[in-house]
Amino acid sequence: MKACKTTPHSQSKRKFLLFCAGLTALYPIIRFLGFSIPRKPRIIELSKTLTTTGFHIGPDYILFDNGKDAWALSRKCTHLGCTINYHEKKGILECPCHQSRFATDGKVLHGPAKKRLARYNVEKLKDDGGYIVTI
Ligand code: FES
Repeated sequence: MKACKTTPHSQSKRKFLLFCAGLTALYPIIRFLGFSIPRKPRIIELSKTLTTTGFHIGPDYILFDNGKDAWALSRKCTHLGCTINYHEKKGILECPCHQSRFATDGKVLHGPAKKRLARYNVEKLKDDGGYIVTI
């Protein structure tokens, strides 16, 4: 009977395959535990001033400027994720799905949403009068 010989090269190959198999087996567990890679921030440059309206509605954010401060809120409702609209006359943000209402600072005024809207960093450009929103 012939004995099976293992060379150093085949042992390192085996270790590498075991390592890959271990990573593959751990991936669903890590995903289940909620580990996620943080996404890269998205930077949006807005080249207009909001002196007349005081707000600008983007596809996924609403930018406010009261003359002193500028801030941006997410348009994603914290209840189930519908896109929120801004009612200029009432000065509130309202979700069309289940009518949650939010103040312009993101605070919940009326449920079913329980969490406030996400707030994004806004840099007001002094020279050109524009804004940089970091989402
Ligand atoms: S998704 Fe906005 S209130 Fe339900």
